[in-house]
Amino acid sequence: MPEADFSTKEKQYHADVPQKNAPFTLKGAGSYDWGMKNRLARTFDPRSGRTVMLAVDHGYFQGPTTGLERIDLTIVPLIPSCDALFCTRGILRALVPPQVQKPMVLRASGGPSILRDLSDEEIAMDMEDALRLNACGVGVQVFVGSEHESRTVRNMTRLVDLGVRHGMPVMAVTAVGKEMKRDAQYFRLACRMCAELGATYVKTYFVEEEFETVTASCPVPIVMAGGKKMPELDALKMAYGAIQGGAAGVDMGRNIFQSDAPSAMIQAVRAVVHKNETPERALDLYKTLKAKLDKKKDR
Ligand code: R5P
Repeated sequence: MPEADFSTKEKQYHADVPQKNAPFTLKGAGSYDWGMKNRLARTFDPRSGRTVMLAVDHGYFQGPTTGLERIDLTIVPLIPSCDALFCTRGILRALVPPQVQKPMVLRASGGPSILRDLSDEEIAMDMEDALRLNACGVGVQVFVGSEHESRTVRNMTRLVDLGVRHGMPVMAVTAVGKEMKRDAQYFRLACRMCAELGATYVKTYFVEEEFETVTASCPVPIVMAGGKKMPELDALKMAYGAIQGGAAGVDMGRNIFQSDAPSAMIQAVRAVVHKNETPERALDLYKTLKAKLDKKKDR
């Protein structure tokens, strides 16, 4: 029997109140289904539309990089401070407590070590496993201009097909060969290719000149890749330049976990990304937090 509830309360249909259709404002993501949008909304904070991803996937080709020798000791305590962790499924299963509430973005390509040609990658994880691990995204390296360009693009498009089927965002990582020039012209090409071929968002490097043309001509969000460790102020300046140049966040590794005070550094990066804080003010925050930590250690 329809509506066989025995409540004595009068029904409230609010027939005069139009139903709200909340817009999904993340760049280029308006046409996706609910699962994909929900995963994106967990990764990109809907309040700022931005993300601070912590990249700790280096071991998949570099082994135990400095700062990542013991991820359980150095990285797990930082997880509450990031918006998403970018790691491998091996690290996730072995070291990340399943109680964590933060979204996990999983590295899904790999193959060669630093001893070989890094562009010679294959897909290294099933989409089914990413779903089993409750991932919020997968990351795949695309080597535009390299010997294995076509295969790495195909790795990405294969993951995009599976990602669209299952509601899993795919982050394309624009990798640059040692011999290639890192300039806006190259990144415009690489980012646009990844987006046109279906990447949900793109991780790419910051360039001092014309970075805003890279973000403007890429129809999906761009997150800034970190790179080699540099002084804290320089890293904050780079993140600031990227955010002010239209990036939707950062995916930084060494400049956070190789800092003298990683937990202070990640807060400083957050201030730049989510609060548009200047690099100088973010550095002040870093110093204040670091001083507090040093004081604690001395006790
Ligand atoms: C680069 O795209 C790889 O995924 C790296 O392992 C990592 O994400 C790089 O992080 P960072 O250069 O900030 O240390």
